[in-house]
Amino acid sequence: MTGLTKTEAELALIETAKRVLPAGGFGNFASDVVIREGRAGRVWDESGNEYVDFLLGSGPMFIGHAHPEVTAAVLAQVPKGTTFFANNATGIRLAEALCEAVPCADKVRFVSAGSEATFYAMRIARAHRGRDKILKFEGGFHGMSDYALMSMAPKRPANFPQAVPDSAGIPAKVRDEVLIAPFNDLETAASLIREYGDELGGVIVEPFQRLVPPKPGFLEGLRALTTEHGIPLIFDEVVTGFRFAYGGAQSYYGVTPDLCALGKIIGGGFPLAAIAGREELMAHFDKDRVAEDAFAPQIGTLSGNPVAAAAGLATLEVLKRPGVYEQVFATGRQLMAGLESALAGAGFAVQIVGEPPLFDVVFTDQSVQDYRTTLNGDATLLRRFNALLRERGILKGESKYYVSLAHDAADIRHTLDAFQDAAAILKSERRR
Ligand SMILES: Cc1ncc(COP(=O)(O)O)c(C=O)c1O
Repeated sequence: MTGLTKTEAELALIETAKRVLPAGGFGNFASDVVIREGRAGRVWDESGNEYVDFLLGSGPMFIGHAHPEVTAAVLAQVPKGTTFFANNATGIRLAEALCEAVPCADKVRFVSAGSEATFYAMRIARAHRGRDKILKFEGGFHGMSDYALMSMAPKRPANFPQAVPDSAGIPAKVRDEVLIAPFNDLETAASLIREYGDELGGVIVEPFQRLVPPKPGFLEGLRALTTEHGIPLIFDEVVTGFRFAYGGAQSYYGVTPDLCALGKIIGGGFPLAAIAGREELMAHFDKDRVAEDAFAPQIGTLSGNPVAAAAGLATLEVLKRPGVYEQVFATGRQLMAGLESALAGAGFAVQIVGEPPLFDVVFTDQSVQDYRTTLNGDATLLRRFNALLRERGILKGESKYYVSLAHDAADIRHTLDAFQDAAAILKSERRR
């Protein structure tokens, strides 16, 4: 398929969205497409255009859209009631499954979104340590809280460790409570931890930052430093949890934090996220376990929602089966190789950055190891390449291919052909 035709009905929806939604959308994705439905590794827009889907709901649909086992689990729960506020069996079973799977998880507290999970993880780290400052890494994405938005994607990065707020409306004082270090630079992190260790409540890191894998020794070094200084280490595993391995990036890279934030896959496509961690830290959610002034109350109307928990549990059941991760990694490797050969073959200097379950191309001849080297990429070329792929029935985010267990041989073939076509057109446009 090349070229997309839009029906009057979809165009009318896009117009309505412009009228009633700020910037014409939900704040997440391009507002020029309205998705009607998804099945396995594909989605369809309201005009009936079909796409191989590498957006995957921004990651949660790891086993594919409308997976029959997830659908059955959800449909079994819905007639029994959809939310109770009180404990429910499905939520308890999901918590048990998470504790069994995730190395750092002695206990789990449910919330509804990844932003909340990182927000509370930072809060209980501070409560535990009795210090206010958080060390985070430039370009690390931890959701939308005031803390998380410090140097998330700064247009004009400051000198380390000065934080730059990436949103209006954040109290100026928050900036002083967050220190920023470059990802994959253990030496700088070590010197900051040594200098500010006594003020630090926690260190938060995406173990795989956006697209960038940790250099060998980086996570191990952070673990050793934080242990030495008694500072809680938080892994943000909202993306990597159950994507890189059944136990997440902490299993995959073999480094166990004190706390982690989980989301996306564990809700099976429903709003569910969690803070998980060591007993002593999770105790701050339990007023009977800590002193009154160390208690961190946490309440959420939909926490442990039984429909979301049923979807999450059914997803985890599928992921436990032998061969699942091998299949996802094999799919990812094929796509990474095809992407590289299409673009390099067309004469572009590119880096394919990531791990097989999550990667993208960066148009640069420089190696990519942190936020600033990611900025070396030619964003205009990437945008154009993505647009050419979209016209060829490939849906993806601006800078990520999320790979799914449901992507089959036909999806892979279609995508590899689209890579070739789009790369050839990009090359011909460059000549003009
Ligand atoms: C690493 C990471 N942390 C936190 C979040 C925030 O999660 P949510 O969008 O569910 O609030 C995201 C969202 O993409 C993420 O990628």
